[in-house]
Amino acid sequence: MPDVRSICAIGLRGQMGLNGVLPWEGEQHPEFIADVARFFDITRGHVLIAGEKTITAIPEFARHDRTLFVIRRSMDPAQVLAQFSDRVVYVGGGPVAWGVYAPFIRHWDINRLPYDGEADRWFDPQWLVAGGAAAV
Ligand SMILES: NC(=O)c1ccc[n+]([C@@H]2O[C@H](COP(=O)([O-])OP(=O)(O)OC[C@H]3O[C@@H](n4cnc5c(N)ncnc54)[C@H](OP(=O)(O)O)[C@@H]3O)[C@@H](O)[C@H]2O)c1
Repeated sequence: MPDVRSICAIGLRGQMGLNGVLPWEGEQHPEFIADVARFFDITRGHVLIAGEKTITAIPEFARHDRTLFVIRRSMDPAQVLAQFSDRVVYVGGGPVAWGVYAPFIRHWDINRLPYDGEADRWFDPQWLVAGGAAAV
């Protein structure tokens, strides 16, 4: 099993997404700019698995120095992860995918940003304690 990690950013109440993009999309405050830069730094050289919308949102400049893999509901999470057994794998969302892969995640990196507006995708704290022997 690979070293399975997660990286995400949330608003003050767990906001994660809005209308297919980050709720704070276009926000120019340094904390938001730094969060995006940090995401690309931390995942560089590693595997990023995520739903199609999330993978599609990865910009061209970041597509060549990491392995991107689209996860589908038809795929068995253990089999997906087994393909990358000698790598660090980041689970990049969206929320449904986190729910399914949470039992495998050993390390969570959650950046809480100063956003308190609308959202249609939310962080679920239950992911952090999702049962399953595979994570250890
Ligand atoms: N704040 C953050 O850190 C963060 C990070 C990532 C995304 N987001 C936000 O989240 C939103 C995008 O996420 P999303 O969930 O809407 O779209 P998504 O990234 O495309 O993820 C949904 C897809 O996950 C796939 N999937 C894989 N395993 C699944 C399973 N067991 N059950 C169900 N689906 C499974 C499905 O693909 P198939 O239908 O093809 O099977 C589903 O369509 C955007 O608003 C984005 O900005 C936020």
